[in-house]
Amino acid sequence: MRITSSEFIISNTDVSKCPNEPIPEYAFIGRSNVGKSSLINSICDRKNLAKTSGRPGKTQLINHFKINKSWYLVDLPGYGYARTSKTSKKAFQKLITTYFEKRKQLVSAFVLIDIRHDPQPIDLEFMEWLGTNYIPFAIVFTKADKEKPMAIERKSKAYIQKMLDHAWEEAPPHFITSSLHKTGGDELLAYIAQLNEDFNNQEVLPTIDV
Ligand code: GTP
Ligand code: MG
Repeated sequence: MRITSSEFIISNTDVSKCPNEPIPEYAFIGRSNVGKSSLINSICDRKNLAKTSGRPGKTQLINHFKINKSWYLVDLPGYGYARTSKTSKKAFQKLITTYFEKRKQLVSAFVLIDIRHDPQPIDLEFMEWLGTNYIPFAIVFTKADKEKPMAIERKSKAYIQKMLDHAWEEAPPHFITSSLHKTGGDELLAYIAQLNEDFNNQEVLPTIDV
C-alpha cells in the first residue's frame, strides 16, 4: 500500500469527541520520545504532519490523521515521561487508557520500542495491560539507524524472547523501522493493508430469531 493522501483531522483530550466513523483505526503508542510522531511523518512522507520534538512530552493530545481517505492513524501522547508533574502524568495515563478502552474502531495498537534499549518494565507492563484488555497490538522497533544490523537482529530477537519467557504464548507481529532512513515503513503498511482488508471483509452475522 502506498499512502497517497494524509490529512490532519482533529486533536482531542476527550475520547468521546474523536471522529465517529466506522473505518479502521491504528494507534501509535510508546514511551515519550520513542519516535511515534516521527514514524507517522515518515510513512506518510510528510515533514510536519505530526509534531515532533527532541524533548520528550511533545504530543499531548489524541491526534487523528486520515489516510488515503479510508482509515485513521492516531498519534498519542507518550507514557513514562519522568519530568512532568505527578498530576499531569496521571492525566496522560487516564487519557491513554480511556482511548484504548473506548475506541471500538481500533483494529490494532502499535507499541513503539527504541531498539537500543533493553526491555523496560513500563513497556512490558503496558503490553500486558493491552493483552488483558484484549486489545491487539504489534511491536515497532524504532531508531534502527542507531544500531548495526547484527545488533538489531540480536536485540529484537532477545526482546521477543523475553516476552515469550514471560506470560506471552506467541510472539506479536514486529517491525524494525528508522524514520531517519525511512526504512521499515513498507512492511508496516503492508501489514495495515492486510488488516484493512480483513476489517472490510468482516461478515455481518445474521441475527438469529430464537
Ligand atoms: P512524544 O510526543 O514526546 O511522546 O515523542 P514521540 O514518541 O512522538 O517522538 P518524536 O517523533 O517527537 O521523536 C523524538 C526524537 O527522536 C526527535 O528528536 C526525533 O528526531 C528523534 N527520532 C525519531 N525517530 C527517529 C529515528 O528513526 N532515528 C533517529 N535517529 N532519531 C529519531
Ligand atoms: Mg509525539
